[in-house]
Amino acid sequence: MTNSKQDRVLIFDTTLRDGEQSPGATMSHNEKLEIATLLDEMGVDIIEAGFPIASEGDFKAVSEIAANAKNAQICGLSRAVYKDIDRCWEAVKHAANPRIHTFIGTSPQHRAIPNLTKDQMIERIHDTVSHARNLCPNIQWSPMDATRTEDDYLCRTVETAIKAGATTINIPDTVGYTAPAESADIIRMLLERVPGADEIIFATHCHNDLGMATANSLAAVAGGARQIECTINGLGERAGNTALEEVVMALRVRNDIMPYETRVDATKLMNISRRVATVSGFQVQYNKAIVGKNAFAHESGIHQDGMLKSADTFEIMRPEDIGLTETNLVMGKHSGRAALRSKLADLGFDLGDNQLKDVFVRFKELADRKKEVYDDDLIALVSDEGTNAMHDHLQVEKLRVVCGTDGPQSAELTLSIDGVDHQTKATGDGPVDAVFNAVKALFPHSAHLQLYQVSAVTEGTDAQATVSVRMEEAGKIVTGQSADTDTVVASAKAYVNALNKLLLRREKNAPE
Ligand code: KIV
Ligand code: ZN
Repeated sequence: MTNSKQDRVLIFDTTLRDGEQSPGATMSHNEKLEIATLLDEMGVDIIEAGFPIASEGDFKAVSEIAANAKNAQICGLSRAVYKDIDRCWEAVKHAANPRIHTFIGTSPQHRAIPNLTKDQMIERIHDTVSHARNLCPNIQWSPMDATRTEDDYLCRTVETAIKAGATTINIPDTVGYTAPAESADIIRMLLERVPGADEIIFATHCHNDLGMATANSLAAVAGGARQIECTINGLGERAGNTALEEVVMALRVRNDIMPYETRVDATKLMNISRRVATVSGFQVQYNKAIVGKNAFAHESGIHQDGMLKSADTFEIMRPEDIGLTETNLVMGKHSGRAALRSKLADLGFDLGDNQLKDVFVRFKELADRKKEVYDDDLIALVSDEGTNAMHDHLQVEKLRVVCGTDGPQSAELTLSIDGVDHQTKATGDGPVDAVFNAVKALFPHSAHLQLYQVSAVTEGTDAQATVSVRMEEAGKIVTGQSADTDTVVASAKAYVNALNKLLLRREKNAPE
């Protein structure tokens, strides 16, 4: 059976590994479990859950995700080193369907790093893949930077990995260097030249440095690849990875010219996109394909006129195809808990009783302050509930700021630190600076603020503001987020949210 003849394309999601590797995108243990559950329910075939040797936290997350998975295969990453592979197996073996993914850099640029000759590297590939195969029947092998590896040598490495027992060969475009025609040709060449290539699955793993990741992935499928590696929202280092939602919808909408199926339930795309944006702290750009805020918005007169006459004049997909419900006026201060639960379920949130109770209290507060509560307000509220949790070390209790034309601007802040309230007053160059100075005075830290960003959740001057901050401490980057109708309160909470994440990172890195 030649895999280029199959019409099923496997979706391999690496949001929790390659996506999370993106500086600042670190997710907590519970957030990783939540995203893995959503991926599993959505019909992703393989979830790369982490890099178990990287940290105790990664190991625990991969083990738990493996134990909980209902449908998806669970994969862990490992370098071409025995101890990595053993650790990876210890984590993924809890899955009904485990996979070990092992890799080594094969291009001239990457071969120089472990300082191996070509022959020594072939030997290493043989030994490590055989070792992995003795542990697990399902082995994926990747020649990192494959697209800059010499053709003959790439064929040799792939042949070695197949002979040693690899069942999937992944071809990474690690630095986002390839282009569609070449991406297809590499897979075709491997299928033609490598003995045993028709017995295994070829995967494509593209980075988006030149903005071609989705096109390169789809071209690789045309060349014979039957697994696409991707992340939600295209999250990933530098310019990111292939976006899952883009390849899934491209294969659906243009099934006439790309007749391949996936198992993904596309109506769950919008919800998982929002959750990944929230937990990673990486907002989706407004004009992002499929899941961007403007992806289904029609502003220009000609477009609106066409849309009113017939939606297919300017829409090639329907919003509901990706689980996007209309942004209506939904709830007011008289709406009850059952109505809130049902509305949140429509938006893709399945909250437990306790969480619903907390969200309901905050919804009532919001409805009191804001005349109209829209879907996006509710999404921001639930996301905020998840990111700013009761058990956090630091919590903003009270905040009062003085600002205006006559400075200095000042902030009076009560911050709870491990359950004990501390109070201070600070000034600054504007109210946000004053608040951040107050936090620093109560909780001294050396973290450096790299980014501060505000966006309005909906229209109107009473809209909630979502604030994102990115902070760096000793090379570790975290992002914090919060939403509130008061921009300064949202800023304080986002800053404190980032500090809480830094504290988690410190705990994670402390010797056990
Ligand atoms: O981009 C890359 O090469 C990778 C490998 C580890 C597969 O992520
Ligand atoms: Zn990658």
